[in-house]
Amino acid sequence: MARRKKIYEGKAKILYEGPEPGTLVQYFKDDATAFNAEKKDVIEGKGVLNNRLSEFFMTGLNNLGVPTHFIKRLNMREQLIRAVEIIPLEVVVRNIAAGSISKRLGIEEGTPLPRPIVEFYYKDDALGDPMVTEEHIIAFGWASQQDLDDIVALALRVNDFVSGIMMGVGIKLVDFKIEIGRIWEGDYMRLVVADEISPDSCRLWDAHTGQKLDKDVFRRDLGNLADAYTEVARRLGVLPQNG
Ligand code: C5P
Repeated sequence: MARRKKIYEGKAKILYEGPEPGTLVQYFKDDATAFNAEKKDVIEGKGVLNNRLSEFFMTGLNNLGVPTHFIKRLNMREQLIRAVEIIPLEVVVRNIAAGSISKRLGIEEGTPLPRPIVEFYYKDDALGDPMVTEEHIIAFGWASQQDLDDIVALALRVNDFVSGIMMGVGIKLVDFKIEIGRIWEGDYMRLVVADEISPDSCRLWDAHTGQKLDKDVFRRDLGNLADAYTEVARRLGVLPQNG
């Protein structure tokens, strides 16, 4: 069988040419990396779980009118997405202090933040994704002021949606990262949520026990990562079946 053309390979996903112009196939690998790929492993089944979980969140967002790149899941590891022009920013939203904000500002992990905080990081592995301000983003032309206002609005809508869904199954959404893409429709440009929404890019804590159910299990050697992701999928009712 002819192999599809590979467009891009990242740390956890591969993008292939899609069946129609303007589409791509996003393949979820089992590879896990942390600390800018200094720590690596293969976690059997992770790609299947993230494909399902990202489908679940992106479908919910699409149904709410929050535009995403997601079209449909194709099989266990692949989904059909719209091709977008990725804005070179990682957009992080935090509800509770953890990870880099705790380290940088000396805030104890687990401290609720006074309001959701949106941060931007410049996507560049060689530089270790440095934090940047709106000043940098506008001065260097990565996005306009209008884009930034729209990106913050999108990020906060994703936060409200995913926080609410997770709280319904007894999980706190501590923080998460999304990426934003541009889609051109004639002269009109639309910003959409791209990449993935999965426990690889969120911090998820059990609301009662505080147990970590996200990639920190791998980063901090806290147990079996696939078991943690399976628990998230089980609670959401999206445990992968065959096909
Ligand atoms: O490390 P930090 O505390 O800044 O991470 C904030 C959130 O963004 C976490 O949920 C983390 O999983 C996510 N993140 C990510 N990819 C990165 C950096 C952070 O998904 N390159």
